[in-house]
Amino acid sequence: MNPLRDPQDRRLPRIPEPCALVIFGVTGDLARKKLLPGIYDLANRGLLPPGFVVLGFARRDWTDGDFESLAHDSAKEYARTPWREEVWSRLAGNIKFVGGSFDDDAAFDKLSDCLDGLRHSHGIHGNAAFYFSIPPSAFPQVLKQLARTGMADNERCGGWRRVVVEKPFGYDLPSAKALNDLVDDVFTRDDVFRIDHYLGKETVQNIMALRFANNLFEPLWNSKYVDSVQITMAEDVGIGSRAGFYDATGAARDVVQNHLLQLLALVTMEEPTSFDAAEIRAEKLKVLRAISLPDDVAAGTVRGQYLRGWVAGQRAVGYLEEPNVPADSTTETYVAMRLGIQNRRWAGVPFYLRAGKRLPRRVTEVAVMFKTAPHLPFNRTDVEMLSSNQLVIRVQPDEGVVLKFGAKVPGTTMEVRDIAMDFQYGEAFTEASPEAYERLVLDVLIGDRTLFPDAAEVEQSWRVIDPLEEAWQGTRPEQYRAGEWGPRAADEMLAREGRSWRRA
Ligand code: BG6
Repeated sequence: MNPLRDPQDRRLPRIPEPCALVIFGVTGDLARKKLLPGIYDLANRGLLPPGFVVLGFARRDWTDGDFESLAHDSAKEYARTPWREEVWSRLAGNIKFVGGSFDDDAAFDKLSDCLDGLRHSHGIHGNAAFYFSIPPSAFPQVLKQLARTGMADNERCGGWRRVVVEKPFGYDLPSAKALNDLVDDVFTRDDVFRIDHYLGKETVQNIMALRFANNLFEPLWNSKYVDSVQITMAEDVGIGSRAGFYDATGAARDVVQNHLLQLLALVTMEEPTSFDAAEIRAEKLKVLRAISLPDDVAAGTVRGQYLRGWVAGQRAVGYLEEPNVPADSTTETYVAMRLGIQNRRWAGVPFYLRAGKRLPRRVTEVAVMFKTAPHLPFNRTDVEMLSSNQLVIRVQPDEGVVLKFGAKVPGTTMEVRDIAMDFQYGEAFTEASPEAYERLVLDVLIGDRTLFPDAAEVEQSWRVIDPLEEAWQGTRPEQYRAGEWGPRAADEMLAREGRSWRRA
């Protein structure tokens, strides 16, 4: 069939209908470093419709021009694609600003009038997405304003209205449910986009390609051949200027509840019947429901907090010395845990998850560790340098996949040693990978929900984290030096089971 005539052909560029993206919290880091540059990158790739409008809302006494110049500078500094002033000048005319606080009815009335005006002036037909790049505590107020002004009402507006909510989605199960109810009261379920930016990463989407487009891995993808799985999210950075948020959150809520459990779900879920959002979400939810916690939380989890040290040749202060962190804080900056999955495919396989700040370097990877061959017909000394086979999905940096297996060392003996077969995005493809936010903003505007976790997934993930948080109440985290791979207790946790962390 002629691909140009095949409506199913997803290779054709997907371009949204004319619409507006309203960003609440435009002066924050997320908007400046990710959203505005992402919008420029989309424009640069020709993926935005001519009638696309960015509408900023913040508590500032700004003109459209003031906001446009902030957007220009942010986009220029952080854009992924080369800077082209002519691309920006086309966008610049469509950048608007409304100033006000979230309790200011008049400001929201103005925003509503502005969107109504754009319907004709820019032909957006009432289509608008509202991006909440604001602290969760402000969500209720903004939602109330959107409801009061009728801005969330698809029918009144004569187009689609969508809302984009950043993680953390809640603080625990009850607060996530309350938040889901609140959002559901104002927006239709299908119009709510919950961001977990890990799902926007190419390497994370590739997990599904690797598993479901190939025949090679599926027969081995189960407890018969897999010994264990390690999921690592290591960061060399500390908490930056986010003490207020981070100290109330900790590593488990910040990245395990969302990014790591989503990675786990993609690695372990069954094949969806199609790549429809609903089918993928259903499979992820099933496997999230099958997650089991360690019987003894104290033995099967480790929490850590960094002390001062050195990371990549730079001196780093300890967590308790970071500005605005309480001196007696027991918040974890590192967490490791052993989870299980209670289903036929995975029963008995341990899933080791770890995430931490101020570790030696930035690396996120999923390592599937295979069992050793049942029998090795070699001299013991010939296989001394052979470990078990590993398939490592390198999420970042050095994006790619590595397969580790044994090969004969050239020479007269039968010595077998580990070698690596390496697929690197940078070498295999000429196209550079889009940034996660670039992809996700585009999907919101198109209305494709595939890469967004739904309410049930978010709630199920809290069901995994809440009992751990409860068990950790009143305990102190173990210590590790900035620049070390976490506390010693995390190594001991694996050593007790005859394993060790992969050197990521
Ligand atoms: C965010 C966390 O979700 O992910 C941050 O809140 C973390 O604490 C960040 O630094 C890491 O994202 P990435 O894409 O750099 O791995």
